[in-house]
Amino acid sequence: MDRKPRVIVMMGGPSSEHDVSLASGAQVLAALRGTGLYEVTALVISRDGEWQLSNEVPQRLPQPGEAVQSVVAREKTIRGVQLLGDADVVFLALHGTFGEDGTLQGLLKSLGIPFTGSGPLASALAMSKAKAKELFRYHGLLVARDVQVSAATIRASVSNAVASVEHAVGYPCVVKPNLGGSSLGVSLADNAEALAHALQWAARFDTDILVEEKVEGREVTCAVLEALDGTMRALPVIEIVPRKGAFFDFASKYDDRGSDEICPALLPADETQAVQNAAVKAHQALGCEGFSRTDMFLTDQGPLVLEVNTIPGMTPNSLLPKAARAAGIAFPELVSHLVQVALRR
Ligand SMILES: Nc1ncnc2c1ncn2[C@@H]1O[C@H](COP(=O)(O)OP(=O)(O)O)[C@@H](O)[C@H]1O
Ligand SMILES: [Mg+2]
Repeated sequence: MDRKPRVIVMMGGPSSEHDVSLASGAQVLAALRGTGLYEVTALVISRDGEWQLSNEVPQRLPQPGEAVQSVVAREKTIRGVQLLGDADVVFLALHGTFGEDGTLQGLLKSLGIPFTGSGPLASALAMSKAKAKELFRYHGLLVARDVQVSAATIRASVSNAVASVEHAVGYPCVVKPNLGGSSLGVSLADNAEALAHALQWAARFDTDILVEEKVEGREVTCAVLEALDGTMRALPVIEIVPRKGAFFDFASKYDDRGSDEICPALLPADETQAVQNAAVKAHQALGCEGFSRTDMFLTDQGPLVLEVNTIPGMTPNSLLPKAARAAGIAFPELVSHLVQVALRR
């Protein structure tokens, strides 16, 4: 190509992580522009599904919103897709429903437009924490004991739902929407009353709720980056020490003082290696592409995998960009690399 590749940075969307996505998108846009290597445009999808090309990105501090119903607004989407007409590649800076869960990936794939990150299958598998855990178990990765409860069951009889969790998992436990992100709808429960509230709260975010035993250990996260030749490389491990909440909740994630993120984590070499191996294994178990970030706990039995994020936060202060920086990869270089990997395919 003798002209600059045209990159469209997609962001926003109908998920509860809309604001978080705009924060990622604005930074990716600025960084890609700054390289001078691409012709870059933003494509912002509003909460109600309207697509709009833009040079500026509206910004506000991420609010812990409730899930917005995924709007399959046929006409808005058909009109929106026209805006992708002359893109050489799409940089996906969306999180959660629609943008990260394989839906948009499938749409772009059927249009024949290359995009950053994982394809439809891996994206969808990673979005379902329960399905992903089945694959992790199959591949010999350690995961937390759990039980699934439907929102319908919770609404029909919360005491029955509590009883089934007590039977299968016990206290303390962690309640989370199966398709969640950004810790929205996640809570810790150590008695029946708290559990009933936690179940009802999580049921506002998804139709399926996952309840896990509370895992003890140091919380860590580890990103994997694909090289241009297709090989996978684990980035330095980050340890997360929440200060505000009892766990790495929404407030801890988006408030600078909410948690300490130690990068690289101060771990013995063998534990670092074990965490990095688990991240690569989890990435491969789901068939992820481009990049991913796996959330884990380092337990007495080794790394335990919570979930894989296929489009982790992408502001320069987000975890994956921090880890990249510790490995000598600056933010503009990182986002440009992700574009190059996508163009390669
Ligand atoms: N089984 C668990 N035991 C202890 N803490 C947990 C457990 N599951 C989740 N957490 C806490 O909740 C946070 C969010 O959970 P996670 O599974 O990563 O979902 P998401 O980030 O998609 O909302 C984690 O970073 C961790 O602090
Ligand atoms: Mg997480």
